[in-house]
Amino acid sequence: MTKSALITGITGQDGPYLAKLLLQKGYAVHGLIARRGTDTLWRLRELGIENDVTLINGDLLDLSSLIRAMQLSKADEVYNLAAQSFVATSWEQPILTAQVTGTSVANVLEAVRIVNPQAHFYQASTSEMFGLIQAEQQDETTPFYPRSPYGVAKLYGHWLTINYRESFQLHASSGILFNHESPLRGIEFVTRKVTDAVARIKQGKQKELRLGNVDSKRDWGFAGDYVQAMWLMLQQETPDDYVIATGRTTTVRDMCEIAFRHVGLNYQDYLVIDPKFYRPAEVDVLLGNPAKAKQKLGWEASTTLEELITMMVDADMRRVEKA
Ligand code: NAP
Ligand code: GDD
Repeated sequence: MTKSALITGITGQDGPYLAKLLLQKGYAVHGLIARRGTDTLWRLRELGIENDVTLINGDLLDLSSLIRAMQLSKADEVYNLAAQSFVATSWEQPILTAQVTGTSVANVLEAVRIVNPQAHFYQASTSEMFGLIQAEQQDETTPFYPRSPYGVAKLYGHWLTINYRESFQLHASSGILFNHESPLRGIEFVTRKVTDAVARIKQGKQKELRLGNVDSKRDWGFAGDYVQAMWLMLQQETPDDYVIATGRTTTVRDMCEIAFRHVGLNYQDYLVIDPKFYRPAEVDVLLGNPAKAKQKLGWEASTTLEELITMMVDADMRRVEKA
């Protein structure tokens, strides 16, 4: 029997990598798409799967559209990846972020519970929930201390997932994923902003790179590795929560150094610190401990930060050349 999956957020960074993985495994893949009039299908096109997935119109804010999507897709597995996911925007649109990233998780869980309570459910939780870190290396037992409206909203979705597991015995799992990047990363996130700038500077189309806090540290992995962990969680007999990370942390500054060096440039010649990009409250450092995922899922990150950043620079060099 062909398994069916429903992915919310299929037009984001992670959605297409997950869709491709599921297609390779023989799933019928359905994606919820909130039509907004812009070309949101470019990532599916880049992975060559635009015509292999079934798109269903809907919005996380609209429970009826989620019920319809569950009915149409007959999903055995539901991956809730959709969100307002840019941390900086969450201070400008805190209420929208609370609704889309936070309380909408109740809509998705309700749609699952009403239409097919046997379906396995994945919630895209985040290391942002650790915020002001309460342990040097964060794992599933580390207390949360979110530092942005986004982090607060995600914490609601995280606890609701646990609550529906305990209240209704749903197979609902939560992946606490640390930062993961790829050539499909949105341009507003720091890695992609850097790799795009490197390509433009190298090709004479940009003169400088303006960034905010370059001393913050992140545990960065490759999105292509991380979607495998999502799938593995839903194949387990019992639902659970897992930290997914590399176990290495690097400053934004050192990540810049890697990106510029790859094309023979020195980042110090181009970097301008612009307080406009500082955040009202910062998450200074994130460092995950993925030991549980390794032990229980057999998962570990297989792409180094150097491999990831050079892959992104190479993709942006090609894009800028073509433009
Ligand atoms: P992303 O690139 O920002 O994608 C977000 C997706 O959500 C897009 O497809 C977007 O659609 C969709 N969306 C936004 N509002 C919606 C609404 N009201 N109804 C339906 N769809 C809506 O995010 P990502 O990097 O792929 O991350 C996937 C998930 O993992 C997110 O929940 C994110 O918060 C979480 N996460 C990400 C990371 C990371 O480092 N990437 C780490 C931890 C957790 P449009 O294309 O139409 O805007
Ligand atoms: N975006 C951005 N732009 N970030 C900058 C800049 C800049 O110009 N300058 C410095 N930074 C710093 C931010 O202050 C932050 O400390 C770090 O770079 C990473 O920022 P982002 O790439 O925007 O990611 P994030 O860590 O805030 O959030 C991402 O990871 C979370 C998981 O920890 C997002 O993908 C979230 O959705 C995800 O949950």
